[in-house]
Amino acid sequence: MYTLLLPLFLLLLLSTNTAAATTIGITYTPPSPTSRLPPPSLVAVALRRLSIPSVRLPGSDPATIRAFSYSNISLFLSIPNLFLPSIASNRSNALSWLSRHLVPFYPRAKITALSVGNDPLNAKTDLADCIIPAIRNVYIALHELGIRDIEVSTTFSFVSVMRGVFPPSGAEFVEPANGLIVKPLLQFLQETNSSFFVNIHPYHLFRMNKEIPVGFALFQENKFGFRDDSVTGVKYRNLFDMMVDAVVTAMTVAGHERIPVVVAETGWPSGGGGEIEANEVYAEMYLRGLLRHLRSGVGTPLRKEGVKEVYVYELFDKQNCRVLTGVDSQQWGVLYPNLTKKYDVEFGSAGKGQFGGVGVVRLAFVLVLVAAVVL
Ligand SMILES: *[C@@H]1O[C@H](CO)[C@@H](O)[C@H](O)[C@H]1NC(C)=O
Ligand SMILES: *[C@@H]1O[C@H](CO)[C@@H](O)[C@H](O)[C@H]1NC(C)=O
Ligand SMILES: *[C@@H]1O[C@H](CO)[C@@H](O)[C@H](O)[C@H]1NC(C)=O
Ligand SMILES: *[C@@H]1O[C@H](CO)[C@@H](O)[C@H](O)[C@H]1NC(C)=O
Repeated sequence: MYTLLLPLFLLLLLSTNTAAATTIGITYTPPSPTSRLPPPSLVAVALRRLSIPSVRLPGSDPATIRAFSYSNISLFLSIPNLFLPSIASNRSNALSWLSRHLVPFYPRAKITALSVGNDPLNAKTDLADCIIPAIRNVYIALHELGIRDIEVSTTFSFVSVMRGVFPPSGAEFVEPANGLIVKPLLQFLQETNSSFFVNIHPYHLFRMNKEIPVGFALFQENKFGFRDDSVTGVKYRNLFDMMVDAVVTAMTVAGHERIPVVVAETGWPSGGGGEIEANEVYAEMYLRGLLRHLRSGVGTPLRKEGVKEVYVYELFDKQNCRVLTGVDSQQWGVLYPNLTKKYDVEFGSAGKGQFGGVGVVRLAFVLVLVAAVVL
């Protein structure tokens, strides 16, 4: 009996360990006090129920961070762009940001990443000179506090940091940001074992390049839907992989091909903004295709292990501020305000076992165990 169980047990262990696919989290912008959205405490409970393992908080509001204490959901925090000049100029400003937003909650809230700025190349004021000094000051301040397990970086937006992305093998980081910011950042990431954070929105690239078929952006694989990279001979099945490989290529050109990539935002709008491709059918196709692709574990043509983490953008639709701006804001949310799912998708690891290899092996193991006990 045991001779039968042992190999099965090993197989179970093995299959669990090799299923290390991309972690799939979600971006959550906490509500303004006047909105109709549920409070962060209820959101944290709902995200646990949906088995969502990690959350990105672009705002890093202290009450929201506190709501995730003891939740075992890992948190990706961001320091807003407007703090970068002061943090870059004096490390005590980094310490004071951390002592308000991080120290009171760490480690009960599982904070794992800290982005110093978000799309800083596109900020209202020129931040070029303060990005790297601000990152270094935050990193040193964390170490002064004795905290060594939080990755520190900044988050770029694909469209503001990349150029020449068709084909991806020709991609580069834009100058002058490349020499001034990206190269020193990559060096820092390598020294500190951290990841490159980048927002990757196939929706935006598709909107800017009318020759891209919508199915290619939406993970709809068909035999005419491939795009070849004529330089490398690699076939691309979807725009997401092409964008990731453009980043991987540019990092390689800069001499850092092994740094992990974290996709800080990706999604598809279901409405608003008056664009016809922003609709619920496409939004659901994108989300299903993305999750299926990430769970398949095949990675991208240039990076077999794929990206390390992906944060779906975003949890709720922005509350409409048409009264103020005259236009509907675009809706990227994947949950309704009543915390039910807009689309029929499984976010967390819960969906993985259903048809995946791990679930089948586990089931076989349980059946054999039952049979062994009964006989
Ligand atoms: C906490 O999360 C980690 C990674 O997501 C997981 O491996 C671990 O089992 C979780 N722990 C508990 C107590 O749920
Ligand atoms: C940094 O800020 C601290 C506290 O405000 C102040 O005491 C110190 O002089 C500042 N250092 C520099 C170099 O400005
Ligand atoms: C980075 O990782 C390597 C290998 O895992 C380790 O030897 C090194 O000490 C790490 N460096 C830092 C700064 O954590
Ligand atoms: C949640 O809200 C959506 C959209 O308003 C609605 O369609 C759905 O029926 C609601 N679900 C529950 C359980 O209230």
